Amino acid sequence: MSNISSKQKIIIANWKMKLGFRESLSLARKIRQRFKNFSGNVVICPDFVSLYSCGQEIKKSNLKLGAQDAFWQDSGAYTGEISPQTLKTAGCRYVILGHSERRKYLKEDYNLINLKLKKVLAVSALTPVICIGENQKERSQGLVKSVLTRQLQEGLKGVALKADQKVIIAYEPLWAIGSGKVIKNKDLEEISGIIKQFLKKSRSGRGRDKFSIIYGGSVDSKNIKGISQIEGIDGCLVGGASLKPAEFYKICRGMLT
Ligand code: PGA
Repeated sequence: MSNISSKQKIIIANWKMKLGFRESLSLARKIRQRFKNFSGNVVICPDFVSLYSCGQEIKKSNLKLGAQDAFWQDSGAYTGEISPQTLKTAGCRYVILGHSERRKYLKEDYNLINLKLKKVLAVSALTPVICIGENQKERSQGLVKSVLTRQLQEGLKGVALKADQKVIIAYEPLWAIGSGKVIKNKDLEEISGIIKQFLKKSRSGRGRDKFSIIYGGSVDSKNIKGISQIEGIDGCLVGGASLKPAEFYKICRGMLT
């Protein structure tokens, strides 16, 4: 069983580029107020500009801060990029890597995501969340297993984890993101099996325990209960529904209580 299994399930809110600075701050405040008496593991990921201020807003709460991306170097002439160490200094504990929107619009591939993953792991107390997932065409062609296995092979290549480190694998089928279509429970069970099988082949027993699997793609308060009951799924990455405090609270309760 995963060491961040039932006891430490997680919900990660991915705000993407949907909010301006003031809106982000206001949402962070509303979420903090709504989650006042909630002790589950909940992470909010605002955009880079809003990160620090949102982090200050939630500082005295149980909520945690995450970033939507990071660069693969510590510092240097990399215009527009942000290092994992800077993210940590700004208060981040989690970093999403290789989100499908970055793969699509910025042409990120798993060799690059692999570099980012290693650099995030080089900064203590930062947990990477690596995204994988097939598109509709790959699913209809029966390629899900081979696509996910290749993404994992490339993304996790040469990644060695220290005793206190973990990696979260976010399975996000592209066709489910922002579409209102959610994966069927039996298909998600199968995916969890594919990922576990990959980890079994590539990692020793204790090494496998450092990975957890979460799901993302049109998660809402109606489908969360079903997802939460799937063996081997340790949480969710939530986009659109995480922008509505009441809805997001219901999702977190559904998964984490
Ligand atoms: P969604 O986004 O919940 O709006 O489908 C999920 C994601 O892209 O992380």
